Amino acid sequence: MSEHWSEYWEQGHITSFGDAFKMNYQGEIKALWQNFSRTLDEHSKVLDIGTGNGAVIELIQSVSQHECVGIDLAKINDEVTKNIKGHFISHVSAEKMPFKDAEFDTVISQFALEYSDIDLSLSEIHRVLKSKGKLHLVCHHESSIIVKPNRQILEAGLVIKENMLKDLKGLVNALINNKPSGIYKEKIEQFISSFQPLEKVSLDATNFPAFYQFITENKSVDFEQAYKLFESELELLLLRLNELKQAAENTEILLHKINNTQCYSDVVVRELRDTSNGLIAVVISAEKCSGILN
Ligand SMILES: C[S@@+](CC[C@H](N)C(=O)[O-])C[C@H]1O[C@@H](n2cnc3c(N)ncnc32)[C@H](O)[C@@H]1O
Repeated sequence: MSEHWSEYWEQGHITSFGDAFKMNYQGEIKALWQNFSRTLDEHSKVLDIGTGNGAVIELIQSVSQHECVGIDLAKINDEVTKNIKGHFISHVSAEKMPFKDAEFDTVISQFALEYSDIDLSLSEIHRVLKSKGKLHLVCHHESSIIVKPNRQILEAGLVIKENMLKDLKGLVNALINNKPSGIYKEKIEQFISSFQPLEKVSLDATNFPAFYQFITENKSVDFEQAYKLFESELELLLLRLNELKQAAENTEILLHKINNTQCYSDVVVRELRDTSNGLIAVVISAEKCSGILN
């Protein structure tokens, strides 16, 4: 799973939302982390799990100074993180962390912990967090404005993979061999027009209509190569969106485990919403107490 994230961070993005947040998160997410940072004792030792290119650490450090460590299973881009006050370590998983027991005052994670093996990572967090240390998590939710549209794209992508790749390949072969291609075009166009305007947004996000248009309107194209590229990009899209869907489902499990172990007190769960009342994420905070993790 970390490979596509490594490639993503290599491109220089600061957040996991690409060009939507070129200069780090804004609005409610920015405010949440800056406010959280103000609640910490000065120079707290903070661990950010699944830090990516360090967006959350940058927000934390923008209002008060802490000793921050960011880890990620993927390769972190040093060119981006060199300007952020923190120590960043690539290829470290939440499930097995190279830190001493009780090394951190605070463990945080945004849109990352829920991608991990929850039992193993919670056990590691319990080990590296000091007694009375704080856990602060921003997690995906199945009905959020981030996850819901992506689930619809995933569904459209799966339908394409199951039902349309055969016809697309047939069309490509017909174009390569100068054979009649009408039957394939008809089926594909019928498929595209079967989508209602609202669902069409999800279909467009798979690139299927754009790819169809591209190969039917261009004559001097290496059709075989173009098809291979489309197919591999579709596979990558399905992989990413499946992981996102799974991660959002894991949030419930994560929350259940935190609530049901005896080693966290003051567990608070709240929804993070944008100015239009859209659900962005679930925020879970807790304090470690001396109970045993079960
Ligand atoms: C959606 S990104 C979030 C990045 C960053 N926290 C942010 O909010 O911009 C998820 C990150 O979690 C990392 N990740 C996934 N599973 C992980 C694991 N088991 N241990 C550590 N990092 C993990 C991925 O490599 C990726 O960089």
